[in-house]
Amino acid sequence: MKIFKTKTELTTYLNTFDSEKSVGFTPTMGALHSGHLQLIESSKRECDISICSIFVNPTQFNNSGDLEKYPNTLKADLRKLKKVNCDIVYTPFIDDLYAKGEKAKEFNFGSLAASMEGEYRPGHFNGMATIVEKFFNIINPTKAFFGQKDLQQLQIVKALVKQMQSDIEIIGIPTIREGSGLAKSSRNSLLSANAKTEALLISKCLNFCTENKNLGISELQKYIKSAFEKSRNLELEYAEFVSLNQMKEIKEWEAENQSAVCIAAYIYGVRLIDNIIL
Ligand code: PAF
Repeated sequence: MKIFKTKTELTTYLNTFDSEKSVGFTPTMGALHSGHLQLIESSKRECDISICSIFVNPTQFNNSGDLEKYPNTLKADLRKLKKVNCDIVYTPFIDDLYAKGEKAKEFNFGSLAASMEGEYRPGHFNGMATIVEKFFNIINPTKAFFGQKDLQQLQIVKALVKQMQSDIEIIGIPTIREGSGLAKSSRNSLLSANAKTEALLISKCLNFCTENKNLGISELQKYIKSAFEKSRNLELEYAEFVSLNQMKEIKEWEAENQSAVCIAAYIYGVRLIDNIIL
């Protein structure tokens, strides 16, 4: 497994391969768990060369406390990537990607970025798209792999490649869950066993929506609100019912469009998100 710290080293190495070879790219912020490893494994199956980046991107954090708390486990991450036979890891320092004082670029993703993460984490998607665009320009992968846990991010990255007029194929990989149902997340490492058990309310509410779709959106919303009100330590930030293709709030199920239910909640100061596609 090759590890590069600069884009020059990375691109010089990539240029030694036959241009016919397909390149799979998985961007991450480290603290890798089995959800990330599934992305790399899909990349290994589908592409000739698999690259993973590990970079905690400051421009996508609207809250400096959240950035400081973000787990850093580089040594363990590299061991995990070696185990799944990742070919190349790119672990740049900030100055390899950003000029001094450089801010996030302003994008227009319309309704895709207006609600949920876009509303509660202002600037987050501009920061995320800024770094993903930089990575795509450096690596120019054939395919890029993203988890469906960050559903809004996935839809925005699909819009980003259209705006870039790029033919990079964006592959969304279903959310990996712990045996209990809790969605795998780097932030889970910040939770005690008890907190993880309490956090199961999130996936339970999502499953309730799948099993009781016929109740209709407003009843399901009431159900989720009341379940969170009864919980001790979970604070609901949002529970949104949206169309999958536009990420726009819906009041009723749409026969012609797939829908998604997306939840964000805090537990002991740790922010978790999850969703289900219906
Ligand atoms: O999903 C993430 O971990 C990040 O948003 C990403 C795509 C690596 C960009 O920093």
